[in-house]
Amino acid sequence: MAKVLLLYSSVYGLSRRISERLQAHLASQGVAAEVAAITDAAADPAAFDAIVVGASIRHGKHNPAVMDFIRKHLALLQSKPSAFFSVNLVARKPTRNTRQTNPYLRRFMAQSPWQPKLQGVFAGELDYARYGPLDRRMMQFVMWLNKGPTDPTTKVEFTDWKAVEGFAAEVAGLATGQGAASA
Ligand SMILES: Cc1cc2nc3c(=O)[nH]c(=O)nc-3n(C[C@H](O)[C@H](O)[C@H](O)COP(=O)(O)O)c2cc1C
Repeated sequence: MAKVLLLYSSVYGLSRRISERLQAHLASQGVAAEVAAITDAAADPAAFDAIVVGASIRHGKHNPAVMDFIRKHLALLQSKPSAFFSVNLVARKPTRNTRQTNPYLRRFMAQSPWQPKLQGVFAGELDYARYGPLDRRMMQFVMWLNKGPTDPTTKVEFTDWKAVEGFAAEVAGLATGQGAASA
């Protein structure tokens, strides 16, 4: 049975939850998957048939631990079916939610020596109450600039969970050697 490693980098837990949704959806398609933080040294990527990395954007950047992981395991990542997804708020805009149109995913792929066949982007969540005062002010300013919600009581999950499940189906295709993404 194919086994997939789902590694996440998450500050407020959404990228982890997306990885867990991928895991559940893969299980429903008969593909076993393990979820682990990208900084968890116990997860041995060599022991898996496919690797998926998911990371959120904070202040314009993915966690540097993601690129560290890629550099460290580059040969391994290049030798197996693999995928990457980014989670950010810019992707809440329909004109910024694809591999071709999301600026963070594009920039990440322009900088990464690893070019996974499957690349995805999902809209994140906005939950002002969970942020510290500085981050809250900063996000309110960013949202004001982008015509997004600035009310400090706003709690919105923009994630398209159907798109997450569609991505899971593509990962299953990769891991089992079937489907368009594995070609
Ligand atoms: C302090 C902070 C800074 C953020 N900066 C950005 C940003 O620069 N661009 C963006 O599109 N989203 C930004 N976001 C939105 C996050 O990417 C979004 O909340 C995502 O759901 C976080 O996922 P996580 O819980 O896995 O970390 C930011 C969020 C926070 C809390």
